[in-house]
Amino acid sequence: MKNNLSNIKKSKFYLDNGYCIAIPTETVYGLAGNAYSDTATLKIFKLKKRTRKNPLIVHYHNLEMLKKDCEISKIFLKLYKRFCPGPITFVLKLKKSSKISKNVTNNKKTLAIRFPNHPLTKKLLKKINYPLAAPSANISSKISPVSKKDVEEEFGKKIKYILDGGRTSIGLESTIINLVKKPSIIRLGGLERSKINKILRKNIQCTKLQKKIYMPGQSKLHYSPGIPIYLNVNNPKPNEAFILIKKREKSSKNYYYLSKTKNLKQAAKNLYKTLRIIKSKKYKSISVEKIPNIGFGEAINDRLKRAAVK
Ligand code: TXA
Ligand code: MG
Repeated sequence: MKNNLSNIKKSKFYLDNGYCIAIPTETVYGLAGNAYSDTATLKIFKLKKRTRKNPLIVHYHNLEMLKKDCEISKIFLKLYKRFCPGPITFVLKLKKSSKISKNVTNNKKTLAIRFPNHPLTKKLLKKINYPLAAPSANISSKISPVSKKDVEEEFGKKIKYILDGGRTSIGLESTIINLVKKPSIIRLGGLERSKINKILRKNIQCTKLQKKIYMPGQSKLHYSPGIPIYLNVNNPKPNEAFILIKKREKSSKNYYYLSKTKNLKQAAKNLYKTLRIIKSKKYKSISVEKIPNIGFGEAINDRLKRAAVK
């Protein structure tokens, strides 16, 4: 406990002085900086090698803080009451009076925000008087980190500090819902679409991938382990890694289980960790068995499809 407190003090010190640090959330680790600061937010883009066109998610401690920056609606409050803090990000209208750095929004009039549900990061957000811009703590288009070790693998000594909150409990990024126009899901993720549908009493659709124009949240080249991935495979080649969600009778060295019982929540949690392990083993390709496109399976398939883009 004492240790945690001093870790939070350290984190606050670095953030107050304009540095970026990695923070744990329930989804993946974030690379965080003061969202009101032009210098801190610029550092995030540089460290991640991220295009300035791609806006950042901002993390808040409470509604009061959020209201300084965004317009909020009835639909937002409904979802907020049910799911926050938790693995859902909202795209909202930015207020003219907001002090959010223009780097965060790429000068646009919308802002993606969320309330993370991790005890250490909640404590940290309570202690600082600004929200935190924090994209996933990986180099752009690489696999998102789910532990301190993963963040170290991505950035080495390039970041000042990692607030260690253990392995993340969900293991996939938050679900992003755009509430600026008719509600639509921009990115599937850690909150199942069916749960959102139930609260809104509607079937909320996913925004279709746009081929020609650049759409935030929809970069196709993403989450890449750097080797080809083949989906819906039943019999893999002997020299490739094979990702499974249900136990097979025969075992083999190249089998990697996301779950042994077709538990899709567990499979989501293990996805990025498994891709990282496979990548470190120098396989030339990855095959994945068919994953049902329901519940968390939707988000898993979305990530695998993007990872499979050549
Ligand atoms: O779970 C998460 O959401 C993690 C943790 C750290 O909070 N964060 C995360 O951030 O995944 P990032 O930057 O890796 O992904 C955020 C996505 C980006 O693809 C970005 O394009 C999209 O959100 N985004 C940000 N602002 C947006 C906006 N105003 N409109 C539409 N999409 C936006
Ligand atoms: Mg990311």
